[in-house]
Amino acid sequence: MVRILLFPFIWCMARAAFVSRRRDEMKDYSNYVVYRFYDKFDTLQLPTTDHDVWSVNEQFTDVKLPKNVKLDAHWNYTVLIKDLNNAIRETYPMESMGDESSIFSLSDLDESFFNGYKDLKTIYLWFDYLHSTFPDLVSVQSIGRTHEGNDLKILKISNNPKENKKTIVVTGGIHAREWITVSTACYVMQQLLHNYKDHVRNVERHFLEKFNYVFIPVINPDGYSYTWETDRLWRKNRQDTYISSCKGIDIETSFNYKWSNNKVNSFPCDENYNGEHAFHAIESQLINSFLFENSPVKYHGFLDFHSYSQEILYPYTFSCDTTPNNYENLVEVSFGISKSIKQTSGKVYDVIAACKDAGSDLTPGMGAGSILDYMYHNEVQWSLQLKLRDTGNHGFLLPSKFIKPVGNEMYNAFRYYCEFLVDPELTVN
Ligand SMILES: *[C@@H]1O[C@H](CO)[C@@H](O)[C@H](O)[C@H]1NC(C)=O
Ligand SMILES: [Zn+2]
Repeated sequence: MVRILLFPFIWCMARAAFVSRRRDEMKDYSNYVVYRFYDKFDTLQLPTTDHDVWSVNEQFTDVKLPKNVKLDAHWNYTVLIKDLNNAIRETYPMESMGDESSIFSLSDLDESFFNGYKDLKTIYLWFDYLHSTFPDLVSVQSIGRTHEGNDLKILKISNNPKENKKTIVVTGGIHAREWITVSTACYVMQQLLHNYKDHVRNVERHFLEKFNYVFIPVINPDGYSYTWETDRLWRKNRQDTYISSCKGIDIETSFNYKWSNNKVNSFPCDENYNGEHAFHAIESQLINSFLFENSPVKYHGFLDFHSYSQEILYPYTFSCDTTPNNYENLVEVSFGISKSIKQTSGKVYDVIAACKDAGSDLTPGMGAGSILDYMYHNEVQWSLQLKLRDTGNHGFLLPSKFIKPVGNEMYNAFRYYCEFLVDPELTVN
């Protein structure tokens, strides 16, 4: 019976996998490299505006630059990624996909889903598959359409949807190129469901007694599709701006808490352009109306996956001068998460204030209007951002063999987090 119901999905997934990627039409990065500059590095010193800052912290700044840019001999730097095209290629499914691996069967759908990154169409079919597999736990809903007409899909996970429990929101893919965040949100969701079903007494049952969950694994469907079809390193959404050759608004910083469009984020061609007004990005508008307009739901937790740099970030983003009311608790749960990751895989995740990561301590205006601050301001008191692997060797281009290891360490982090939220007083480190 179940098999018959699922047949159309399997057939569609096989078809989706067959759609060949037009790799030769993809944006070419053979003339670019990613550098790591040590010490506090000011990108304004660079002799070109064609630069894309991948990561900043107190020790180093990673920047994608054209190969032919002359760098000052006094700067202390190394080449982080020399062959960008090759690093990009390694994140796509095998070229030979089309033979054996494109035929999904029911038994290996769960297994094979995390062997490689998946495009939007396949992910959305997998959402439907989850609903058919766990009809009493999972509902899939579109909360609206994006600029390019894609559905923005969310999944509600609940063992009793009528009951208005405290709700935890988990999101990924707000930045299109951060593929590991999409796979990780999916992985965490799948583990939660499977463990719930597999054992009569388990911690997942306890979680679903206490909480409802909303998962939004692909907050930026237009951008995500664009990274599969045209430009692997695209970050923003695909909305038009007042400069016709520069599309896209950074969804992450287009929320209305402390939103400001100052000189660091007001130029449409920049990667952190935050629009002309708060909620200018359609996706942020849709999220806001779904979560908070006419909704009786009490949101309690928020985990937003990003990459890369292995960090756990707590509010605020817009400024380092303000400390959240439950600062001690947020730091405590963050260190607990970090510890549970270390115990799972040995990986070190640093705990820092989001303002430092955004750079708003050094450059006022950076990080204004962030989704993290917005959720926290809307009384989602357990709001965190998790920046996943790695620490720079692959940057945004984490090869697909890391999907399961990262998923695994994040699932343990998620379990720790939920246990902590059940009763912060009872959690013993
Ligand atoms: C460059 O930076 C690295 C990392 O901070 C440091 O270990 C190294 O000594 C620096 N080299 C020079 C020449 O300053
Ligand atoms: Zn990000």
